[in-house]
Amino acid sequence: MNGITKGLTAMIMGLFVVTPKVFASDGVEVNHLGVNNTLVRVSGEGRYLLFPVQESNDDARVNILVDGELDKSINVKLAKSKVDYYVPFDLAPYKGHKVAMNITTTQGRSTVREAKDDACWKNMKVSDTFDISNREKFRPAYHHTPLYGWMNDPNGMFYKDGVWHLYYQYNPYGSKWQNLSWGHSTSVDLIKWESHPVALEPTGLGMVFSGSCALDTNNTAGYGEDAVLGLYTSADVSQTQSLAWSKDNGETFELYPANPVITLETEARDPNMFWDNDAKQWVLVLAHALEHEMLVFTSPDMKEWTLQSSFGKGLGAQGGVWECPDLFQLPVEGSDEKKWVLVCNLNPGGPFGGSATQYFIGDFDGKTFEADVDSDGNIPTKWMDFGKDHYATVSWSDAPGNRRTVIGWMSNWQYAAEVPTMQYRSANTLPREIGLFKAPDGQIYASSQPSPELTALRDNLALKVRKTNVNKKWRTYDLPTNNGGICEILFDVDAKKSRIVDFELKNNNGEKVVMQYDVAAHTLSFDRRESGIVDFSQDFPAVTIAPTFETDNKISLRIFIDRSSIEIFGNDGDFVMTNLVFPAKPYTKLSISSVGGTARINNLRIFSIKEF
Ligand code: FRU
Repeated sequence: MNGITKGLTAMIMGLFVVTPKVFASDGVEVNHLGVNNTLVRVSGEGRYLLFPVQESNDDARVNILVDGELDKSINVKLAKSKVDYYVPFDLAPYKGHKVAMNITTTQGRSTVREAKDDACWKNMKVSDTFDISNREKFRPAYHHTPLYGWMNDPNGMFYKDGVWHLYYQYNPYGSKWQNLSWGHSTSVDLIKWESHPVALEPTGLGMVFSGSCALDTNNTAGYGEDAVLGLYTSADVSQTQSLAWSKDNGETFELYPANPVITLETEARDPNMFWDNDAKQWVLVLAHALEHEMLVFTSPDMKEWTLQSSFGKGLGAQGGVWECPDLFQLPVEGSDEKKWVLVCNLNPGGPFGGSATQYFIGDFDGKTFEADVDSDGNIPTKWMDFGKDHYATVSWSDAPGNRRTVIGWMSNWQYAAEVPTMQYRSANTLPREIGLFKAPDGQIYASSQPSPELTALRDNLALKVRKTNVNKKWRTYDLPTNNGGICEILFDVDAKKSRIVDFELKNNNGEKVVMQYDVAAHTLSFDRRESGIVDFSQDFPAVTIAPTFETDNKISLRIFIDRSSIEIFGNDGDFVMTNLVFPAKPYTKLSISSVGGTARINNLRIFSIKEF
């Protein structure tokens, strides 16, 4: 080649750049098609393709091609400058097929040369294993969490053959809200949770938002008496309701071919249904989110639905959106009366900012819910939990022994995506049993007790004090230090002679949670402003306050600590408070003092808890 030809060739190559293939070593072949477009072929053998994630990045769109055909699309925050963690894409279902990913990134690169430098291409790999070892210090030991990835609402819960099924809003491809699917876990004791494969994933109608499941014991839908029926919201540009059924106890679902079964012109979501044995039909409550109302539908077969009524316009706390309804009947403690509870989760608009669970007590005739009024003729606003981290609470269908067992998402939309965890984000509350009681104001309220199974958490009785008097001087007790300080604390307070009783949980880093029983106000407050890491969101440092619903100046407290959460059940669940905390080190001391006179502390017990 002479000099001129060489020059020409170089010019032509410069004009028509043929992108060279890059063979990354770990079983992937990366082919840069343009600044924002890369084709990745899986060339090696292995169970997973591991995507490197950088949380601060925008999502890349990953179209998964199987033998050249589009199988599904997912969104992943592919790493640009550093890898925060990996998420696995399971290759097992595609064994024997050719898998490629057509990836559109948003990395803001101006040349292909720059785009090639992105950390994701060098680190993407095929692997036989994926590391889910529980190393993060804030990951709870005995609360339900996903193995990895983002979780919000618990939903679709049902009980069958001794097994508690729990589904949840899940992103299998990162620890921020995206790719909403139904993750699935089961438990036989409400303590240890086993993780199952994703049960429902996005379809052409959109992502899979919250919903509910129930057993079709009368075979109303025609899929058999042992079928589990699921209804969920398909969420794309619009929100519609879809039907699914399972013949393998909720492990996998088939989709009803004529979905959606309910369409409306405005946002409606989170269908929650139950079988009305009197009327022999299904009843469904659906959140008409922006209208701040709950719609009631009925159906003989889960497919044809008739709108019967709506409840809520202008009532209670209105908030930004109404979401995740539930409707059930319960006896009122100490009476023959039965009442209906309509649960209306709302966000924002909670008593301490952001998300919270509101409920109404009333009557339901199979079609219409009517709320009770107070002595002034108003419909009062009631909260199921007086902490900041209790949302999307709904109950299990078909629970044994007429139990109304619920679980909530232990976070708040104000900061759920910012909390200082990485490989997983969010836990659920402890499972709780809902009851109804009449309070001193003559109103009926919902109580929440820890599910009875949870006493099995107790390991050693680390401290027992039958009676002690406290005054201005702090009385201090050691908390268990094994297993990262996870424990259960119980005591009764008789404050007839006191004005204020203070309780503190603290560590030797100066971090503390301050709880205060204000005897005259009949309130318990929880101050987490100095509880540990609080600066990831301006909405996190907060004081929450619960009414104690007593008139005799006595309270009993049952407190569960699990690394990054504190749940307080007061007076056998008459008031409850759920709050997250992120202390640099576990709290090691409990201190108690009293202002304005002596307070008596009875039956103080502290149990350490086993690591599960
Ligand atoms: C409540 C919610 C639901 C919706 C889901 C989406 O937290 O907004 O209304 O179904 O989350 O993940």
